[in-house]
Amino acid sequence: MRLPALLLPLSLLFTSLLAQSISTPTTHTLQISAWPLPAASSTPLARITYSYPSLNASIDSWTPPSPPTAKPKPDRGGAGDTDLVRIGFHDPVTQHWHGVVTSAASFDPQFQRRVSLHVDGKGVVFHVGFAAWRTAGGNGKQEPEVEVVPMRRGPEPVLNKPVVVSEDGKVEGAVAEKTFLQKYWWALALFILVQVVMGGGDK
Ligand SMILES: *[C@@H]1O[C@H](CO)[C@@H](O)[C@H](O)[C@H]1NC(C)=O
Repeated sequence: MRLPALLLPLSLLFTSLLAQSISTPTTHTLQISAWPLPAASSTPLARITYSYPSLNASIDSWTPPSPPTAKPKPDRGGAGDTDLVRIGFHDPVTQHWHGVVTSAASFDPQFQRRVSLHVDGKGVVFHVGFAAWRTAGGNGKQEPEVEVVPMRRGPEPVLNKPVVVSEDGKVEGAVAEKTFLQKYWWALALFILVQVVMGGGDK
């Protein structure tokens, strides 16, 4: 009778441990804005929901800014300097804008677009990237692709690595220095050979 009484708390403990070990992805929503640079303020561009750490994302809404009014400059043959759009999000805490500047022509329907959310180790977005490219068929989908980019550790130098000395006083991992004779035996041999040959010539 004592064993079944023990089994219930044990199985409860086990299931709670199991639940803790499987980390459930947290879902975040980010509002991205577009800010055409001549304009006074930004307008909503996209609402993106993403999960971390599973890094999948979906677009809840997409409102591209109206394409720029064509005003070709004869000297440049292209879009004017002011046809730029800031894309990103505004951090209400730091009051900073995080994002990129792109050409307003990126919102032309002939382009395919991609929004990149760069997330830190806690899944919080710290940077927004944007790319647009001409598709083969020439009719890009209206909604952009979304990718969630996690932070990666860069290469690090090994500093202050302790020097390990083995029992016989040698530094472990170090290549044993060759002795002078091991290094320059060939020079010594050559020197002796020259002496022998020259000495033989005198006779
Ligand atoms: C990501 O995938 C998980 C598991 O398939 C799902 O529960 C979650 O809703 C997805 N997140 C988004 C933003 O689509």
